[in-house]
Amino acid sequence: MVSNQRYTITSALPYTNGPLHIGHLAGAYIPADIYARFKRITGNDVVYVCGSDEHGVAISIKAKAEKKSPKEIIDKYHVIIKNSFKSFGISFDNYSRTSNKIHHETASKFFVDLEKKNLFEIKTSKQLFDPKENQFLADRFVEGTCPNCGYEHAYGDQCENCGSSLNPTDLINPKSKLSGEKPLMKKTTHWYLPLGDYENFLKEWIIKDKKNKWKVNVYGQVKSWIDGGLESRAITRDLDWGIPVPHKDGNGKVLYVWFDAPIGYISSTKEWAQKNGKNWEPYWKDPKTKLIHFIGKDNIVFHSIIFPIILKAKGNYILPENVPANEFLNLEGEKISTSKNWAIWLHEYLIDFPELEDSLRYVLTVNAPESKDNDFTWKDFQARNNNELVAILGNFINRVLVLTHKYYQGIVPKQIDENCEDFKILDEIFSYPEKISKSLDNYKFREGINTFLDLARLGNKYLAEKEPWKLIKLGNKERVSEIMFISLQTCAMLTVLSEPFLPKTSKKLEKILNLKRINWNHITKTKFLINSEHIINEPELIFRKIEDEEIEKQLNKLKGSN
Ligand code: 2FM
Ligand code: ZN
Repeated sequence: MVSNQRYTITSALPYTNGPLHIGHLAGAYIPADIYARFKRITGNDVVYVCGSDEHGVAISIKAKAEKKSPKEIIDKYHVIIKNSFKSFGISFDNYSRTSNKIHHETASKFFVDLEKKNLFEIKTSKQLFDPKENQFLADRFVEGTCPNCGYEHAYGDQCENCGSSLNPTDLINPKSKLSGEKPLMKKTTHWYLPLGDYENFLKEWIIKDKKNKWKVNVYGQVKSWIDGGLESRAITRDLDWGIPVPHKDGNGKVLYVWFDAPIGYISSTKEWAQKNGKNWEPYWKDPKTKLIHFIGKDNIVFHSIIFPIILKAKGNYILPENVPANEFLNLEGEKISTSKNWAIWLHEYLIDFPELEDSLRYVLTVNAPESKDNDFTWKDFQARNNNELVAILGNFINRVLVLTHKYYQGIVPKQIDENCEDFKILDEIFSYPEKISKSLDNYKFREGINTFLDLARLGNKYLAEKEPWKLIKLGNKERVSEIMFISLQTCAMLTVLSEPFLPKTSKKLEKILNLKRINWNHITKTKFLINSEHIINEPELIFRKIEDEEIEKQLNKLKGSN
């Protein structure tokens, strides 16, 4: 397992135009959090950053809809989003906001430096305009049919269906989202990033080098965009909400949200460094640092093409080692939709299922849309909670703890040695950190959590086969003590290995088993995880069954919103 390596880990900055739902959590936050926790617990130097994405048309549209100012909108949702992350144990080292001064300064400096180097094109062209609203129609202000895949609700900058990046004028049958009208064309001037100038760089960096390192879905998309040729992208907008263009001719214009937002990862790191007396620069400039961006598939183009070009153009910055994007999570067979309220909102889940944060983390990991879109159903959620977390993991740990109290008053029995009949089983138990690490290093979080559960399965099987409760009645105390000692090692191993996946559960187990957190690299078979005479606390249930009525209630709630 790698240790002492520096990692800069990012999760997509969520737009503060609404609360988060399970699709967000499954796509960019749970995998990143597992990865960050895993890298910390294996002794690496990790900074895991995120923050609220508070600019762009998404915010202006929401503000108009709620008849509020953009500032009121971002202040409202920033708090809701931040609280949801905290409740689900997403372990950001810093959660910033792009409205912060440090971010405005950082993003403006990027623009100014690129402009000084003459790396922008300045072009005047006719763009879509809504005369009723007196507004140029960029990004989400306009919708139309995607010229690449035919999806009818593509935005002016991006099609969320096929992931391609678009210009508003590419849309077929564009319609203003503000007035519903067909737009007119009007001249305007903007700064453009000539992506085509960087084709050779991208070919060297991605096509040559990332083929077997990046996920197939990510590499394939990126390669086809590069092969198809890259057009210049406007990085400024005629809007009144955003970071003002720092240029004498920039009046009434702001930076494009996708220019400033990824720079938010850097601002967030700077903020973290300031708060903690650290230097942010090695996290972004030392070539030995590994930069990993966790995102959903609709963000691939921005993280694997546009942002790397910005970093390359600025100079002296590292490029992402990997961009392990997830596919989409559907809900009960349909696409999650905010406008149709077809979603499970995190802040509502937390009210309906208090204390079950880890159950959702578990199901969203075991069922993650890692290589293809996947479906979340309430019935599957219930089944996995009841049949896996409760019946396998919870049941095993509970049995071992109850028996330890019953036979030994909570004191770990005598240590075993090589002569013990089952000594070899320890080889298997102690092979799990390495196995799970391999999966997580390869961004295979489903595989990792399944392997973790296999250890609990192994523990259950062992107990069921050895039946210490029968042996004790036969007076075979020596053998019972061996079996319990081995089972307690398994419980301790589950405690340690659960940390990245189920952090709240892991903490509970640490408390019950009275154990300190341990670096996975320090685990060796020659040192037991829990020693003879160690005292454990009273068992308490770590999971609970979810009843049919609770699931019915959720299904009815969903149906009601459809
Ligand atoms: O798609 C989104 O929700 C964007 N707000 C993600 C931004 S990621 C980053 F680059 F900041
Ligand atoms: Zn499309």
